[in-house]
Amino acid sequence: MTTSLLVLHGANLSHLGRREPALYGTATLADLDARMVSHAASLGVRAVARQSNHEGDLIDWLLAAADEGFAGVVVNAGAWAHSSLAIADAVRSIAPLPVVEVHLSNTVARDDARHVAVVGAACRGRIEGFGPGSYLLAIEALVAIVAGRW
Ligand code: DQA
Repeated sequence: MTTSLLVLHGANLSHLGRREPALYGTATLADLDARMVSHAASLGVRAVARQSNHEGDLIDWLLAAADEGFAGVVVNAGAWAHSSLAIADAVRSIAPLPVVEVHLSNTVARDDARHVAVVGAACRGRIEGFGPGSYLLAIEALVAIVAGRW
């Protein structure tokens, strides 16, 4: 059976392409997802992407991930990454399912409020600052983790 990975995008990522392009680039979320799905396919896995501007959706999707058959999760919670104990608790609740945090921007090079990684602290690891490449690297990390190589 093909390995399936879940990719969750949180608050305001629906506006990628139009939103602060100097920071986040001009690729839309659909562009990013298409690139990621095709990168996953090239590695022999299936990536399924979802986005919500409602925190509870991310929590519900995380909690259901294993039951839905996903072998790992990539999460960019947007601004919730810096504040949401509830999303962090959901990540901890599904251990040992591996969760990798990503950010498009290098959050530690930005304002102090973004240096706090509440969700990242609950994750297996974090990849940030490479634009859409952060997601591609996270898929590669999960493929290696699921295969037991990392
Ligand atoms: C972001 C970084 C967050 O600080 C910000 O609130 C976002 C985008 C990123 O991918 O760089 O919404 O998660």
